[in-house]
Amino acid sequence: MTELRHLLSAHELDRDTAIAILDIAEDMGDVATRAVPKLPTLRGRTVANLFFEDSTRTRLSFESAAKKLSADVITFSAKGSSVSKGESLKDTAQTIAAMGIDAVVLRHSASGAAHTLATSGWIDAAVVNAGDGTHEHPTQGLLDAFTMRKARHGTASRGKDLEGLRVTIVGDVLHSRVARSNVWLLTTLGAQVHLVAPTTLLPTGIASWPVTTGSSLDEAIAAKPDVLMMLRIQQERMHAAFFPHEREYARQWGLDDARFAQLSPHTIVMHPGPMNRGLEISAAAADSPQSRILDQVTNGVSIRMAVLYLVLSGTSSNAPTTTGGPSA
Ligand code: CP
Repeated sequence: MTELRHLLSAHELDRDTAIAILDIAEDMGDVATRAVPKLPTLRGRTVANLFFEDSTRTRLSFESAAKKLSADVITFSAKGSSVSKGESLKDTAQTIAAMGIDAVVLRHSASGAAHTLATSGWIDAAVVNAGDGTHEHPTQGLLDAFTMRKARHGTASRGKDLEGLRVTIVGDVLHSRVARSNVWLLTTLGAQVHLVAPTTLLPTGIASWPVTTGSSLDEAIAAKPDVLMMLRIQQERMHAAFFPHEREYARQWGLDDARFAQLSPHTIVMHPGPMNRGLEISAAAADSPQSRILDQVTNGVSIRMAVLYLVLSGTSSNAPTTTGGPSA
């Protein structure tokens, strides 16, 4: 696999590297079943979570992942910080780096922020993109691929890709970094990705993406995909009207109870969260046995353990111990 100095996008991952990350995440998931679900692997290392945008799942699961690997964690939230006094990303990152850190997990509203931090020379730490604007959310793509692989192959997942898996992603593709990371990663792993959205919520340039597109959720459901992933409507990024009314959106593109009843029993339902229940997904669909939404959250910890392990492996003379660590 390619050495992982930073993780900035799913687009940059080749098939072997992606599978290696998923396999290490399998090992990390096994750690969670131990009596003491913790490894000494990153003892003495410090991970800084820099969150300039709100988060529940990503921030807490990176924190949990770092702690399970025995790293120290410092967490920065822009709200309540000196960002309100005008402090820049560069000064914020350098201030935190001056306290002694080995990795930065960055969420930022600007597309490209993680790439800038990794390549600017402002800091030495490894950089993990935890979501940059509408660009990418690579660990979400990885945890989604991991969840799909587990649903397909169960305990025999190691080493497998997603060849031929039929994945339909529905909703606000335009504003979704999750959709972008999924498209690149899933197609690298051999899946067939179909995007369903109102034309106003598909990006310009989509013709060059390795996907098919449509505008009918009913037709997509009738095609019996293996995975139906509903996306959150990102009101906070909408500065214009992209559909007439929320009720109109829910009627045409929401996975409501009637559509959920039409779903093939083999189709799993996914959503990156947070969900707008009643808008893009009904409670019955979200809470059903076909839903893998909470599995996605659980798997997020394993994936983030794998990523932190890889970006911090051997990056200094004080390389992390793998004693008791994953087998991969
Ligand atoms: N899926 C996701 O990124 O959720 P959070 O915004 O809660 O981190």
